[in-house]
Amino acid sequence: MIRFEHVTKSYADGTTAVDDLSFEVAEGELVTLVGPSGCGKTTTMKMVNRLIEPTSGRILVDGEDISTVDPVQLRRRIGYVIQQVGLFPHKTVLDNTATVPHLLGWQRKRARARAAELLDLVGLDPSVYGDRYPDQLSGGQRQRVGVARALAADPPVLLMDEPFGAVDPVVRERLQNEFLRLQSQVRKTVLFVTHDIEEAVRLGDRIAVYGNGRIEQFDAPAAVLGAPATPYVADFVGADRGLKRLSVTPIEAGDLEQPPVVRLDDRLSTVAERLAEEGARWAVVVDDSGRLHGWVSADAVASADPAVRVRERARRMDAWLPLGASLKKAFSTMLQHDAGWIAVLDGDQADHYLGVLTPARLHEALRRSIEADARGGARSEVDVETVPGL
Ligand SMILES: Nc1ncnc2c1ncn2[C@@H]1O[C@H](COP(=O)(O)OP(=O)(O)O)[C@@H](O)[C@H]1O
Ligand SMILES: [Mg+2]
Repeated sequence: MIRFEHVTKSYADGTTAVDDLSFEVAEGELVTLVGPSGCGKTTTMKMVNRLIEPTSGRILVDGEDISTVDPVQLRRRIGYVIQQVGLFPHKTVLDNTATVPHLLGWQRKRARARAAELLDLVGLDPSVYGDRYPDQLSGGQRQRVGVARALAADPPVLLMDEPFGAVDPVVRERLQNEFLRLQSQVRKTVLFVTHDIEEAVRLGDRIAVYGNGRIEQFDAPAAVLGAPATPYVADFVGADRGLKRLSVTPIEAGDLEQPPVVRLDDRLSTVAERLAEEGARWAVVVDDSGRLHGWVSADAVASADPAVRVRERARRMDAWLPLGASLKKAFSTMLQHDAGWIAVLDGDQADHYLGVLTPARLHEALRRSIEADARGGARSEVDVETVPGL
């Protein structure tokens, strides 16, 4: 959808901001460009909507060489969100959002209806915020209007240059989550610039790590964290990349432990046998259709009449996750519930119980994913490993 072919940008003073850059962003893909300040990210982005012209090389959008397209026409097909938002201070939120539809000559009523729909989509009730002016909004709300405005004419491509850079970390995380949800609905082709590796990892289907006008590595987040291509990338992603990696590694069926499983209608005598057989201190309790109910401990069994049914003694289980959730989510769920293990369910199969994840298994899963990348194998597997349900 967006294709760079040997693109170089040198300024008159001799600065080479972008040096022989070639890469491609697929339709519906969200690629983050990440790197320190001054490494050429904004220059890269502004060449896509012709705010900056390359010195050499070609850029294609949807197969078309953009140097042959009228810049004004081009920009109407490309949404653009920047940190300073650039809302018109004398226009209401609704009119700001309707800017591009207006320019495209939409009827006023249709443009305003579309703007209201978009405000709703970014979490701003148009009946509350539509008639306000930009200075009557918080920083986070202004950014949302910026995103709504960029999407109003439904452009296939979205360029975002540090859009959440100026808001505090709590609001930023909320905006990131909202944006991921939005993107799962609208599936734009997105080029997203940030200097924050955490943000790049959270949002990107793939990440381009920039150093001095060049891409040092262009890969899935898990691969960048697990197998940095150069010492520069390793340094940039940081010493705690093992931790960051937790958020991009999903729980897989093979990671799970299989403690004894009993049913609600089993007698405690059966449970006692199973626990003794397997040398376990507790068993998972499921209902007749294999759905998680909770757990029952050896102590609870020992202190009761063996003829009593499991349902009398079972404890409910709150700490559970669907298969495919991130290891980070698993870890934080364990901490939140003060649980030594969490149940993992098959979200696609009516929450069928699959097994449990323990801290030891979590650690093994992390090692597995790091080693898979270090071997350089399983690249295709890594490629589909995009930030599932953080
Ligand atoms: N108009 C310009 N003239 C000369 N140098 C520029 C100009 N714009 C940007 N640069 C330089 O190009 C490099 C890349 O800038 P930029 O793309 O803005 O980086 P980033 O967005 O990664 O911080 C920097 O060294 C910057 O100083
Ligand atoms: Mg910049």
